[in-house]
Formats: sequence, structure tokens, C-alpha cells
Amino acid sequence: MTATGTRTADAARTLFVERFGTEPVGTWSAPGRVNLIGEHTDYNDGFVLPFAIQHRTHVALAPREDGVFRVRVISTFDEGIVDVALDELDALFPERRDEIPEWSRYPLGVAWALLAASGTDPRSVRGVDLAFASDVPVGAGLSSSAAIEGATAVALAETWGIDLDRVALAQIGRRAENEAVGAPTGIMDQMASLLGRADAAIFLDCRSLDANVIDLGFADAGLELIVIDTGVKHSHATGGYGERRAACERGAAVLGVAALRDVTPDDLPRLAELVDEVTFRRVRHVVTENQRVLDTVQTLREHGPTAIGDLLVASHASMRDDFEISVPELDTAVEAALSAGAVGARMTGGGFGGAAIALVAHDKVQAVTDAATAAFAAAGFAAPTIFTVTPSAGAARD
Ligand code: GLA
Repeated sequence: MTATGTRTADAARTLFVERFGTEPVGTWSAPGRVNLIGEHTDYNDGFVLPFAIQHRTHVALAPREDGVFRVRVISTFDEGIVDVALDELDALFPERRDEIPEWSRYPLGVAWALLAASGTDPRSVRGVDLAFASDVPVGAGLSSSAAIEGATAVALAETWGIDLDRVALAQIGRRAENEAVGAPTGIMDQMASLLGRADAAIFLDCRSLDANVIDLGFADAGLELIVIDTGVKHSHATGGYGERRAACERGAAVLGVAALRDVTPDDLPRLAELVDEVTFRRVRHVVTENQRVLDTVQTLREHGPTAIGDLLVASHASMRDDFEISVPELDTAVEAALSAGAVGARMTGGGFGGAAIALVAHDKVQAVTDAATAAFAAAGFAAPTIFTVTPSAGAARD
């Protein structure tokens, strides 16, 4: 574990002892993620290439000794204890989710989906207490939500003796996010958080859920991956994300295919005759982005990470111009990074705020950092938060 990771695990443990008055049996954790390329392709049955990062959410847990079938959750970023009977979860989600604080819908949604997916009677498992602490920046597009879901899933599955593989746990996390939280997101973030490997990305086919580990080799190539967090907050439970998803579904329906995964660049001229101009551009982003993921994987394998810069830049342009999910702060971050010599840069995650990433030679990190900071100041934006991320391992017991 990193020094920060140890501190965060200790924070979860300390919170547990302070608020529940007993010792946890252990801590588990799961990482946030950066998506290297493949944006808004996951819910179109397409391809993505994310990697888990060193920032993690830790959960301290103990089963209850008193035979009470309740689950209690607390976190360092909320005052209260959320306390629900295990056999009430079914009634709570999704209809009555507004009765509990928003953050608690992630872990309690996982408890609900885990029991359901495994066909476990909520009165056959022990009640549990969980305390969360995290160093994944919230609202930065780095999947703090998948981190809390992943940590909860591995902790509860082990505690309750539920034997499901990582893909099944990722699907449980996604169900929690879709139905317990109400964000219509895809499977990418949960898969990255559960399957992550040090120094590697996960090349995921979101239709078959086949996952391949792709070596990144940033350090050997003298590169660093930096995150430029714009500080512009976003939520995928509202607005733009769902609208983009609906446009993709419209495009697929008009073309008579199950998902945009089935559309190739050759189909695009035909689509232009059938849909309005905006829908056309939305579809074009997804179709070209899928191809860019495949090209990135091939380029990494054949030429290494220094050669993928143009693909990252083309991905950003497509999100800015065709999918229209960038914001001025993200464009400024990308332009500043490129002008200061980054190999490539793009926004990462669902968009409408959050962070950009830049792939940068070690000796240019300071120049890129300074350029982004100066460009934000010149544009009158609040200062960005800039840090390096390391491709890291997925969810595990600490
Ligand atoms: C969010 C969602 C993911 C994915 C990305 C966009 O992170 O949670 O499922 O759709 O946006 O690529």
C-alpha cells in the first residue's frame, strides 16, 4: 500500500472504532480509475481501455455479534449513521431510495444487489457495520463511486461467504449505480476497479465482458500520466449523460442494430441520410472512438506508449466537437498540456467537468503543470489540481 493508502485505511479503522465502539475485523479497498481511451463506448457494447489508479476507498468492517440483521454505514465525509434492516433493502431500492442520504445508496445498493445476485436470503447472513474513508477525489471523473462499490463488494462477499467472480461483482456495482443511485452508467468503472493491475490497463470488450491486461510501460518509456482536475463538478445521475445515451440508442434503433458496437465507419454515410445532424455526430463519436481503442491497443503492443499521443488527441477532439461533453476548462487543460510538449492529452470519464489526462515525458512534467496552471489563471478559471497517477492493482483485502 502507498503511504496515503495506509493513512486512509487507518482513517477508516479509526472512524469505525470511534463511532461503533468496537474493532473491525479488517479493511478492504478498491481503486478509482483513469480511462486511457474509449469514452461513452461502454454502454454501446463497445471497447474501453481504463486503468486503476493508486487512489483508493477503504472500508473497515465487522459482522455484528448480536444476531441483528441490520447493515450500518458511516463515512468520514458524512456525520450520520445510516442504519437499514437487511430485509428492507429490497423495499428501499429503487423506489424509496430518497429516504437515505445519497452517498449511502452506493454501499447499501451493493449490499442489496449482492444478496439478490447470489440468491441469498437476507436473514441467512450476519448483520454488518461498515466505515468508509477515501482518497479518491470526488467529482473529478476518477470514479470515486466505483471505488466505494468495489470496496463494498469485495468486503461483503468475503464476509458473507458469497463466492462470485470479479466480473459478477462488477455487475453488482453497476446495478447499484444504475438502480440504487439512479445513474445510467456503463460497466467500465466497476470492471477497472475490480480487475486493475499494476503497470497495466484493462482492455475490455463491454459486450462479452472479456478483459485483457495490456502492459502500459509508462515508466520504462520515461513517461508519466498526469491528471489535471479542473474542479468543475458533474453528476451522471442528471442531465447530459443520459441524453447522450438516449441519442446513441436512437442511432442504433434507426440502423436496426442492437448497439452502436455493430456500426462501422462504412455505415456512417447511410446514417447521415436517416437521422438529424446532432444524432449523427453523437453516433460518429462512438463509432470512431471504438476504432481508436482498438488502434491504441495495437499501437501499445507494437510501438509502446510514446506512440499513442495522436489517438488521445483525436479522442478529445471527437468528444469536444461530435459528442459535445467537454467544457472550456477541459479544453484549456488539454491545449495547455499539448502546447507545453505533452505526448497526448484528453478529457477522461463521462465529461461535463472532471479531469483531463496528459501523457508527458518525465522531464516535461513541470512545464506541463506550469502551463496548465498559467492557462487557467489567464482564462479566469479557479486553479486546477494536478497530480501523477500510477496504474495500480484492483480491489482487495488490505
Ligand atoms: C462514466 C460512466 C462510465 C462511462 C464513462 C464514459 O464514467 O460511469 O460507465 O460511460 O462515464 O466513458
